[in-house]
Amino acid sequence: MILSVANQKGGVAKTTSTLAIASNLKKKGYKALVIDMDPQGNLSESVNANQIEVPTIYELLKQELTVDEAIQKLDFFDIIPSNIMLAGAEQEMSFTGKEYRLKESLENINALYDYIIIDTPPSLGILTINAFTASDEILIPTTPGIFAVNGIEQLNNTINNVKKYCNKDLKINGILITRFNPRVNINKSIKTLTEHLANHIGAKVYNTYIRNSVIIEESQANKINLFDNYKSATVTEDYNSFVKEFLNNNF
Ligand SMILES: Nc1ncnc2c1ncn2[C@@H]1O[C@H](COP(=O)(O)OP(=O)(O)O)[C@@H](O)[C@H]1O
Ligand SMILES: [Mg+2]
Repeated sequence: MILSVANQKGGVAKTTSTLAIASNLKKKGYKALVIDMDPQGNLSESVNANQIEVPTIYELLKQELTVDEAIQKLDFFDIIPSNIMLAGAEQEMSFTGKEYRLKESLENINALYDYIIIDTPPSLGILTINAFTASDEILIPTTPGIFAVNGIEQLNNTINNVKKYCNKDLKINGILITRFNPRVNINKSIKTLTEHLANHIGAKVYNTYIRNSVIIEESQANKINLFDNYKSATVTEDYNSFVKEFLNNNF
């Protein structure tokens, strides 16, 4: 299954969730490949992937190499990294068939992985459209406060355009509430509001919330896997519960 983790808002835990979900799936015995489609390269950095003078997703999109040349096999999971060069792709990719570059690259290796998870940038440009065109489903992480109607309608328009022109079978997998602060006693209203907005786009909200925890920044800064060294942290449990719900749920 190819899953895009997407939301054009920055800071909603797209990268954090991609990292946690893919490493948890690998711990559970699944074969996982992560594709870093964000020029910021935060995900590549958090797992200590090589980003300098190595093939990245940028060269792959330009069809200068084959997909296996770009894959790095790490303890966390396999990854195709990115770096800031990818920022140029938005301008450079103006040719016919530009939406299909990632999909074409992944065709040869799709069967080798149980899950290919794509971390997308905070925009709805050609990189995100390549991710959606290549994907079976989209997971939408959101923080409680900024799940605005405007943002979700824009995201949904992009999804519908990709469905219309590039990938008719694309589905929304679900919405994941992240960076949740349990001390703020508005649980119920957040869930209700999010479900109301989810209805707009025909999506479901996961029951599992991801709580706020300092462990996230600490583990990312130290490039440590949550499921190795922070097994008993609440946020590690949250991501573990989420993956169970994800695996049980065919929304
Ligand atoms: N559950 C969480 N608790 C605390 N901090 C978090 C949590 N999830 C993400 N963060 C932090 O929030 C920031 C934004 O997360 P990130 O995953 O980079 O978002 P995005 O990829 O959507 O821009 C990062 O500094 C990250 O470490
Ligand atoms: Mg990110």
